[in-house]
Amino acid sequence: MNSDELRSKFIEFFLSRGHAQIEGKSLIPENDPTVLFTTAGMHPLVPYLLGEHHPAGTKLVDYQKCIRTGDIDSVGDSSHLTFFEMLGNWSLGDYFKEGAIKMSYEFLTSSQWLGIPPEKIGVTVFEGDENAPRDDESAEVWRSLGIPEDRISYRPKEDNWWGPAGNTGPCGPDSEMFYDIGRESCGPGCGPGCSCGKWLEIWNDVFMQYNKTSAGSYEPLSRKCVDTGMGIERTVTILNGKKSVYDTEVFAPIIASVTGAMNPGGYTYGSDDGQDRSIRIICDHIRSATFILGDPKAVSPSNAGAGYVLRRLIRRAVRHGRKLGIESLLPIARAVVNKFAQAYPELKENENYIIQELKNEEQKFLETLQKGEHEFEKLLPNILKGASRVLSGRLAFKLYDTYGFPIELTEELAAEKGLSVNKEEFDEAFKKHQELSRAQGSQVFKGGLVDQGEMAVKYHTATHLLHRALHMVLGDHAAQKGSNITAERMRFDFTHNEPMTSDQVKQVEVIVNEQIQKNLPVTMELLTLEEAKASGAIALFGEKYESQVKVYTIGEGTNFFSKEVCGGPHVERTGTMGRFTIQKEQSSSAGVRRIRAVLE
Ligand code: ALA
Repeated sequence: MNSDELRSKFIEFFLSRGHAQIEGKSLIPENDPTVLFTTAGMHPLVPYLLGEHHPAGTKLVDYQKCIRTGDIDSVGDSSHLTFFEMLGNWSLGDYFKEGAIKMSYEFLTSSQWLGIPPEKIGVTVFEGDENAPRDDESAEVWRSLGIPEDRISYRPKEDNWWGPAGNTGPCGPDSEMFYDIGRESCGPGCGPGCSCGKWLEIWNDVFMQYNKTSAGSYEPLSRKCVDTGMGIERTVTILNGKKSVYDTEVFAPIIASVTGAMNPGGYTYGSDDGQDRSIRIICDHIRSATFILGDPKAVSPSNAGAGYVLRRLIRRAVRHGRKLGIESLLPIARAVVNKFAQAYPELKENENYIIQELKNEEQKFLETLQKGEHEFEKLLPNILKGASRVLSGRLAFKLYDTYGFPIELTEELAAEKGLSVNKEEFDEAFKKHQELSRAQGSQVFKGGLVDQGEMAVKYHTATHLLHRALHMVLGDHAAQKGSNITAERMRFDFTHNEPMTSDQVKQVEVIVNEQIQKNLPVTMELLTLEEAKASGAIALFGEKYESQVKVYTIGEGTNFFSKEVCGGPHVERTGTMGRFTIQKEQSSSAGVRRIRAVLE
């Protein structure tokens, strides 16, 4: 069964069970500025899961294009993808656990539908905690269908709970379905949900039965909903007995377009690990980029937000293309358009735009690479003077982070000059950066929406921008006296003897927003307090500091915008923060003013 058939069968099955088919939505979410892309089928349905009436009824089915970039750096192995399609069915106050699980089971196992042998299926259910009991109800339904006890695993909240989409709202336990690929179990604790590779998740039934309140409690919902999601790529993989999503028909024409561009007829996918990895990265990234550019609400590559993710995807693909000797990625984008045009007609409609934007970005990146090469040449004399003939990992990382200059190229250029690169130091810097973006990514993607922690981090960086902007507009006396941050707003107190004029307020806003738009990097170094002050960092008067302090710099090199001694955490780049608006400027106490501001 190929992906087109799977898509049709899923829709047909749920239509035959009284569901209405609705259109999948844009990849760029409407009415939700807190997330860059649609990350799950439920995302566009959040208002209906929250109680709004859906014009198509209470039982819905669709297929939805999704992007999750939290694991972008892992793409290249045999399983990770940044773009995927999700099949989903919903009950808005109609059927609940029993109905949902029975339909899932029938679709998976009936020979009329997917025909998966029942003994290959294992499931997980929520094990219970202080907020909600063990989901015995779901387990009982699975048992009644013949799933034996050793193929029902009870798992904690991290694994078997979905939502709420924001800080508060509908959420509940989920029950996930896994396919046993037939490998030996990894030990006595191995079972459905184990990450050893034996169990592949294909479908998730979420039972939204609680409302998480702002006080953090979970109250039973009067109108319970079901939200399910089945990954097309994974399901096609297991249905066809393949080891990897990249071995399926979904990717076949795209891989062929890459190997074709490499050396017509000359390279066979599967014959060299290194080259295969680059091929997979190109296939995944260009598939995502083509869908983003082909979306009715398309963005262009840029330095902020969704545009920045798009830029990263394209540039990483170009880099790997260069490794394989591919001049241009346009034929690969065309292959993606052709493969998916039937299910997503917007791709064909927007093909010219896709190709044009991709071409521009390829061109721009090649120029950036040249600049990076130039920057490298400038660094050279100093390194050559040194005795060690080693390029520090810190510099290599700077080339990577600031100029998008790949480490492989740095190593190559270094080798030409008889130098080596301190790869360990680079890896360390890289890992730190990766962990940060992972942590941020998982916060965005697991729940669908940015949670409180991430918003607070943005506001925290905003206090530094505001502090510096106040110094610029009012003078250095405008020192921070205190601040208070919630997920919704920030307050900032500072020394100043009179109300700010509306003109001054405007100027401060403009300065802060300019820094956000510039997408400045935020970096941290550990210094002694003396070193910190000597480097121009602001330290708050009266504060107690350790012998070593963290200094956060916003902006680059000696032209930095702000430098402060601070515990962190901060955003990695300012471009993700949103628009900064001052809502109020008022007196706080004698000689101290208070600003209330929001990021939107
Ligand atoms: N919203 C659930 C998921 O994405 C179905 O796994």
